[in-house]
Amino acid sequence: MAELDRTETETELHRALALLSAGEVVGVPTETVYGLAADGLNESAVRRVFAIKGRPPGHPVILHVGTSEEVVRYAADVPLAARRLMDVFWPGPLTLILPRSGAVPDVVTGGLPTVGLRMPAHPLTLALLQRFGRPLAAPSANRFGRVSPTTAEHVRADLGADVPLVLDGGACVIGLESTIVDVTGAEPRLRRPGAITPGEMQERAGVRVYVDDGAGLPVPGSLPSHYAPRAQVLLVPADELWSRVRELSLLGPVGVLDRGVAPPDLPANVTVCAMGQTGAELAQRLYAALRLLDERGALHIVSVMPEAIGLGEAIVDRLQRAAAPRP
Ligand code: TXA
Ligand code: MG
Repeated sequence: MAELDRTETETELHRALALLSAGEVVGVPTETVYGLAADGLNESAVRRVFAIKGRPPGHPVILHVGTSEEVVRYAADVPLAARRLMDVFWPGPLTLILPRSGAVPDVVTGGLPTVGLRMPAHPLTLALLQRFGRPLAAPSANRFGRVSPTTAEHVRADLGADVPLVLDGGACVIGLESTIVDVTGAEPRLRRPGAITPGEMQERAGVRVYVDDGAGLPVPGSLPSHYAPRAQVLLVPADELWSRVRELSLLGPVGVLDRGVAPPDLPANVTVCAMGQTGAELAQRLYAALRLLDERGALHIVSVMPEAIGLGEAIVDRLQRAAAPRP
């Protein structure tokens, strides 16, 4: 969390509460990515979020809650699997798709009979939610189709004057959007991979989550090129990384997501981002690196494809979307 003393934090929280109560939007930190939050029960406030993001209507947004007890207000039914997952993983990077209650406005669910609920773990946003006492509808605080923000500066750079306040909670510790599990059917299904993996859900909550490709879901996260920087992203085998980088550098500036040791004699137009050794470091730094390389004017961003195990599955998912052809 950013260095805020208590009075500063209090002042910021008060400003945020006043804005939210007035139907305004606020940028908020979470452990995954920054969200663009509005009162989830105020239809016109949620519409403002869509307008600012440039998000087409009909795309559902996640409702964030400050306590697990609130879930029964917004979900018509809470199956046992959902209960178990909430008990183990909330507050945390897990969104549950549940049957919606009548309290949830249509604009939040995109007209679907379901609602996505999550209790985030960031202390500042949890405090905000608990004081507000109402759910916050919050998609990632980026313009539609762009990379999610993982710092308050990213939010300001993307949304600028459209957002009257961004609560600065420091760099997001996870760096990738929450795991989404749909618990409305006969068996729980993974809708978006994230930091909480099916293996962990089985192990720690005794809940088996089925994985399919989610094809045919009318949600923005399922568009192939949703997490796109401006540069063309290329995923290459490890032993080809530096030869491809040199080749591409002849065409223009190149960015590299590097997890090893870069050779010393690279062309001047190559920017190397050190992504660390662990999957957690790679996840935490990924979006900031894509943004930085865009700012440097990279035509191409080259990365080695990480192994799709554990957290690697979520990273591979985001890298593949970043690399997919644009619509
Ligand atoms: O980590 C996160 O989940 C971040 C932080 C801010 O909480 N939020 C986030 O929101 O990534 P967004 O709107 O960028 O992505 C939410 C995803 C979308 O793919 C949306 O379609 C899906 O959740 N979703 C929300 N409600 C849904 C529902 N009722 N049924 C199916 N998918 C839903
Ligand atoms: Mg998003």
